[in-house]
Amino acid sequence: MRTQIVHPGADNLRYEIRQIVEVANAIAATGAPIRWENIGDPVAKGERVPDWIKEIVTQAAAEDLSFAYSPTKGLMEARSYIARERNLEGGIQITPDDLLFFNGLGDAISTIYGALHPRARVIGPNPAYPTHSSAEAAHAGAPHITYRLDPENGWKPDLADLEAKVIANPDIAAIIIINPDNPTGFVYPEETLAAIVDIAARHDLFLISDEIYSNLAYPGSGMRKLASVVGKVPAIAMRGISKEFPWPGSRCGWIEIYNRDQDPSFDRFARSLLEAKMLEVCATTLPQKVLPRVMGDARYYPYLETRVAAYERRARRAVEVLGDLPELIIHPPRGAFYMTAVFRGGALRRGQSLPLEAQVEAIVGPQLGEALDARFVYYLLGAAGICVVPLSTGFNSDLQGFRFTLLEPDEAKFDAILQTLRQALVTYLASDAGHRLENAA
Ligand SMILES: Cc1ncc(COP(=O)(O)O)c(C=O)c1O
Repeated sequence: MRTQIVHPGADNLRYEIRQIVEVANAIAATGAPIRWENIGDPVAKGERVPDWIKEIVTQAAAEDLSFAYSPTKGLMEARSYIARERNLEGGIQITPDDLLFFNGLGDAISTIYGALHPRARVIGPNPAYPTHSSAEAAHAGAPHITYRLDPENGWKPDLADLEAKVIANPDIAAIIIINPDNPTGFVYPEETLAAIVDIAARHDLFLISDEIYSNLAYPGSGMRKLASVVGKVPAIAMRGISKEFPWPGSRCGWIEIYNRDQDPSFDRFARSLLEAKMLEVCATTLPQKVLPRVMGDARYYPYLETRVAAYERRARRAVEVLGDLPELIIHPPRGAFYMTAVFRGGALRRGQSLPLEAQVEAIVGPQLGEALDARFVYYLLGAAGICVVPLSTGFNSDLQGFRFTLLEPDEAKFDAILQTLRQALVTYLASDAGHRLENAA
């Protein structure tokens, strides 16, 4: 091309959660079965969508207006329902005009970072959910700035680290919270949320709270939405139906804008999001049509309770099977359907491996790079057929570890996956023992 066409941030766009799938598919083509523990799609993992939800969708699909465009902000019936439900929960009160629908939160996330002033930065948690961290890094053309979630402290955010970075980087305009968190399953206690709101207030920042898993927090987790503690701080909360219904293929999510009257430049920024969406006309109509009918149905919350109970049961089982390995740090999640294991310092070394068949070795070999946790993940995929996501390359982290899901609905199969994973970890971690003794001699 006669002129540069690649955006300077292009190399920051990477989604390892899906990229590993190409390698896994190549292994599957050799005839080896793959256990997909990488992607957070409950439906693809075999969870049944209840018949009553399908009936509501079928009825809505029979209405001509479900095929029409919807207003840019979203259908009034959906926005009114969400605003009413939000206001009944207490905390900040909103109107349907404070809501804006998107084609999934993926769309909301890329629109929000794309609409920010090129110099404005948003600090997010480490480990980071890559849709946020990559989109923010691509917007800035520079690595995403993160604050530490501390695996030695149950994944609590390191607030001193957060505030120090906010002070050191005057370009930081906002803080991201993911609550419950992906990939750790951490749920922010109310006092931690309040402390983050306080940091935002003192440094004149706004907040972005991704609450896509907020209705999948486990009982007793102390889950509080940002709305309950936000006070007068400008903020954007994000929700969607991908994980809740679950209907990730509907591409339906929305943002709730709080306190736009408190800051003229936040108000202008919020308007620019609406203007950006107007250029696209609107978000998908059918899921908005069914949203109040499904969420307002008496069966909805009891249905979510059964799902959450299953995730919590599997999380407990995973801790039972993996929790005593001395090389790993594992905390039971308090919400969502992921678990993250961190390798303690020194547990991973370059000489470790798992036995691979020649055909599989030819596929896995070229993937083995510098990141030690990614090496383990590719050996696990090649030798045991279990597909998980490395923490360092998948979640923009300086920690070594991996994330797996709690979505396998067949609990006997889930148990077998855990046992295979445990065996693979034990074998891998000890696989260079002879070599180490030789070197020490
Ligand atoms: C924390 C978080 N935010 C947003 C998304 C994107 O969701 P959507 O399907 O609405 O694009 C995901 C999907 O996994 C997620 O885990």
